[in-house]
Amino acid sequence: MNKTVADPLLGAVLEERYRVRGMIARGGMATVYHALDERLERTVAVKVIHPAYATDPSFVERFGREARSIARLSHPNVVAVYDQGSHNGLAFLVMEYVPGRTLRQLLTERGKLAPEEAIGVLGPLLSALAAAHRVGMVHRDVKPENVLLSTDGTVKVADFGLARIAESSRATSTKGVMFGTVAYVAPEIVTVGTADPRADVYAAGIVLFEMLTGQPPYRGETPVSVAYQHVHAEMPAPSERTKGVPYALDDLVLHATRREPGARPPERRRRDAGRAPGRGQRPRDDGRAAGHRAAGAPLGDAHRGGAAGQPGLQPAGRHQRPRKSERHRICRGRCVRARARPRAVQL
Ligand SMILES: Nc1ncnc2c1ncn2[C@@H]1O[C@H](COP(=O)(O)OP(=O)(O)OP(=O)(O)O)[C@@H](O)[C@H]1O
Ligand SMILES: [Mg+2]
Repeated sequence: MNKTVADPLLGAVLEERYRVRGMIARGGMATVYHALDERLERTVAVKVIHPAYATDPSFVERFGREARSIARLSHPNVVAVYDQGSHNGLAFLVMEYVPGRTLRQLLTERGKLAPEEAIGVLGPLLSALAAAHRVGMVHRDVKPENVLLSTDGTVKVADFGLARIAESSRATSTKGVMFGTVAYVAPEIVTVGTADPRADVYAAGIVLFEMLTGQPPYRGETPVSVAYQHVHAEMPAPSERTKGVPYALDDLVLHATRREPGARPPERRRRDAGRAPGRGQRPRDDGRAAGHRAAGAPLGDAHRGGAAGQPGLQPAGRHQRPRKSERHRICRGRCVRARARPRAVQL
């Protein structure tokens, strides 16, 4: 006997407008479908919250409020939110449909990305975050699953603000929604439980680390052990795990993931970071492990080659100073950039 229970949402028309055509994927909090908006005759993605959340009476209300604020966010690198509603008590969100795949899927297939490709994803990711931060919104769940890579080469960030409602939901208070995302969690979220834009910067730094090395920096038997490392461990430089990572990208990761939120790059610096050079910069070639950059050293030092002492004189674990000719090229970031444009990932 076939025990498969058909998904009652398949074929359903939500609020007399969105005809659910097929399932895209199930996430921890919701299932995402592609659907036809019969009024505008276009394909949309519909995210329907799992029934576990329907038991929380305030959830649908908070979900609607959050959806309205996300809908105000209009940016080419943010997945647009068109509408929200509820169907048989299940809250749903109607979004722009992004054909393609997630950064997670790409990393699963490819392992890691070339530095130019990583920058090609990082730039739009930072732009999307900056647009949200400017209107006072924090993503809170920046991770490769929420970075969508469209078949036309556009990078789009999904799920702004949704983690906040999930975390505050009774349905997650016992299960802990953070479990799925702990690899990217900023130390202050672990210790104090608060998240401001700088927590997104931290998570973006971890995503960059993972793009460059194929693994997040911390792994452990339990989510708690991973969270502990975010708070207490020293962030490794990507080049310690993967040969050929330009030291500017090491700096970027280490700066974005500083334990102290105030030490992470401010928005102005992050804008430059999205255009950080990839090829054209000499990868670290001394074979030594790189440690944290000097406390308080600004991100701009990565471009100036300033986070280091003289070759041979610097303490172990510090960055090697580039050669003079190299410094020239880095210092004049423009000429390096001209040769090292961020490259769109090939799907
Ligand atoms: N707007 C969209 N267009 C196309 N596919 C999408 C869209 N939004 C989400 N998806 C797909 O649906 C999947 C599930 O998304 P969902 O946000 O529910 O879970 P997740 O981000 O993978 O993990 P989590 O449950 O922790 O949020 C995504 O991984 C992606 O493949
Ligand atoms: Mg998601």
